[in-house]
Amino acid sequence: MSTEKDLRLSSILIRWYERNKRELPWRDTTDPYIIWISEIILQQTRVDQGYAYFNRFVKRFPSVGLLAQAEEDEVLKLWQGLGYYSRARNLHAAAKMVLDKYHGIFPRGYTDVLSLKGVGEYTAAAIVSFAYNQPHAVVDGNVFRVLSRIFAVEEPIDSTRGKKLFSQLAQELLDDKRAGLHNQAVMEFGALQCVPVSPDCNNCPASVMCLAYAQSKVNVYPVKAGKQKVRSRFFNYFDIRSGDGHMLLHKRTAKDIWQGLYELPLIETVQAMPVEELQRTDSFRRIFKNGDELHVKYITQMKHVLSHQTIYATFYRVTISAMPDNDEYLGMKVEDAGEYPVSRLVHKYLESEGFSNG
Ligand code: ADE
Repeated sequence: MSTEKDLRLSSILIRWYERNKRELPWRDTTDPYIIWISEIILQQTRVDQGYAYFNRFVKRFPSVGLLAQAEEDEVLKLWQGLGYYSRARNLHAAAKMVLDKYHGIFPRGYTDVLSLKGVGEYTAAAIVSFAYNQPHAVVDGNVFRVLSRIFAVEEPIDSTRGKKLFSQLAQELLDDKRAGLHNQAVMEFGALQCVPVSPDCNNCPASVMCLAYAQSKVNVYPVKAGKQKVRSRFFNYFDIRSGDGHMLLHKRTAKDIWQGLYELPLIETVQAMPVEELQRTDSFRRIFKNGDELHVKYITQMKHVLSHQTIYATFYRVTISAMPDNDEYLGMKVEDAGEYPVSRLVHKYLESEGFSNG
């Protein structure tokens, strides 16, 4: 239940939203499918980057049924460059689930929406509030920041207790009659006004009720408990070419980063390894039967930073007369390699080698 003061805050934020909101394509619709796609794209992606991906995606897959019927490779290809590819795989799996379990009609109930693959509490609340005006409060990074400042919440946002507390607070503040509008307003307010660094508090309609502002502690909130450690990984990629214009790609199937994407044949090592040593490993000999005699040419190194790991990649070119016979790899004409969905790292390499792959 919202108090009078809560409703006052909600009104301030909604009024601010109506004057300042960005015109974004997913805001002109109550179609839950379109809202779902936009929310999944906008997880871990900025609006200006996500915009073009969103337009391309809904143009190619305007309905959940069409997405369900697509090949996974095509879905991943449209996602290429956005990162966090499990989002795309889950979208595809959830579309199939809507087709099979809900006869192609997007579910209305919060719990049914939450049961879809890749849909967490935030996304379920966004979908049912934006599409159906159901009273579920969204809690994302923007909401954490806005609420932690206005109420000077000391509880870390990355603790279990903190998450629970912020969910309760957001739900209490929600104006149930205008749930969709309220949620959009808080998020947009966080994205444009109550920004992480140097917010313009002197021109903020909520500063009159902002405890952090009153205490000159806006930069202290939101409080975080601790940063996750970043893991280093060492990827040695082999661009293997045969004399007759073929190369090899490998599809990543393990539960790891880039699952479902293609890449060059890879040997991962626990530390950086000189090429002479690499050539003596069992992994190398498994790929190349006559390992010692090959000429392995160093091409380039790239550092690729992900949220929880840093990939140190070294690329080598190996030219051989006949492709190794190995069913882990897919042989193809060099000019066809650009058709396959690849990680941004491999894309960067292929681009530097003159491939054009969209
Ligand atoms: N970020 C996540 N969801 C959003 C939305 N619906 N509009 C703008 N930015 C967002």
